[in-house]
Amino acid sequence: MNMNSYEKKLLKYKQYDSLLINGRISDFMSKPPITLTREATMADAKALMRDNKISGIPIVDVDGVLVGLISLENIIIALEKQQINDPIEKHMVTDVSHLMENMAVSTVMSYLMTHGYHRYPVVDDKKKVVGIVTQGDLMLHLYTQLGNIYMHNKRREELLMPVIHHLDSDTKMDENSFSYDIDTRDMDQAGKGSTLFKKFLQEREVPVDEVRRASISLYEAEVNVVLHGSGKGEIKGYLVNDQIFMVVVDHGPGIEDIDLAMEIGYTTADDEARKRGFGAGLGLNNIKQYTDKLIIISSSHGVKIEMVVIPERKK
Ligand SMILES: Nc1ncnc2c1ncn2[C@@H]1O[C@H](COP(=O)(O)OP(=O)(O)OP(=O)(O)O)[C@@H](O)[C@H]1O
Ligand SMILES: [Mg+2]
Repeated sequence: MNMNSYEKKLLKYKQYDSLLINGRISDFMSKPPITLTREATMADAKALMRDNKISGIPIVDVDGVLVGLISLENIIIALEKQQINDPIEKHMVTDVSHLMENMAVSTVMSYLMTHGYHRYPVVDDKKKVVGIVTQGDLMLHLYTQLGNIYMHNKRREELLMPVIHHLDSDTKMDENSFSYDIDTRDMDQAGKGSTLFKKFLQEREVPVDEVRRASISLYEAEVNVVLHGSGKGEIKGYLVNDQIFMVVVDHGPGIEDIDLAMEIGYTTADDEARKRGFGAGLGLNNIKQYTDKLIIISSSHGVKIEMVVIPERKK
């Protein structure tokens, strides 16, 4: 699976695309939504808008089902006509553009581009209002997600570029085998084993492309041990007939749903990790793209990932 630059570009676009396809509106809508019932007055709506600095309020029935919307424009008209103490029902718009909570980000984007409104109620399948989305919420979500992808790739490239780590007692190697003990929860240390394995491969004159694919895959697996595993695990690497075999084992808590974990964008990383550039949900998918064989075995005792990178000429 030698990649030319066109294929590498495609892989990048796939990562960006997946944000739009896998992301859901419920990831970034504001909740709980601020709503009013139709019996409230226009003056109530005006006060609520002013206090919360918002320009529209979904109107709901006693069950929370969407029945209308009051916008700033409705308020201005009611003020001009001195009808500000009227019940909302008399002034609300009843044909309201709304979004569904399970809509993909891509659908939301095209919807916002075709309808000119700034603010949309989000409803569940019973038409109950569960959140509000503004164009700004969508922009912020996309910025954050793109930033996460950028940070993820940049950190990995920087870490794997120069060899900044030195061999120590955690590392053992001979002509064709390499082993490294992972024992840290410090994200700054995550990736050390992969940089050493990269050096191991370079010293054995493995071609650049295979070194790159192997070290990226190993990096992703190693970082996952530090971030999601217990921080304790082992890396083993072997060179057999020019093929690169890598095994990463950790000691828990395991991956609950491997198919879900493989999806681009899926992550259980917390906000702290995400602020530091981890948790874009790219790692396992990258491993799948860069390796020729991949086996992931998981239980509550831990995860074992076996990866093989085969040179193009051997396939
Ligand atoms: N070794 C592991 N132990 C337990 N859970 C794991 C392990 N590796 C992955 N996971 C689970 O699978 C999810 C997806 O992993 P993946 O590497 O694709 O993304 P991420 O680590 O969350 O983000 P990124 O790799 O972009 O920093 C993780 O969020 C975590 O829930
Ligand atoms: Mg990861």
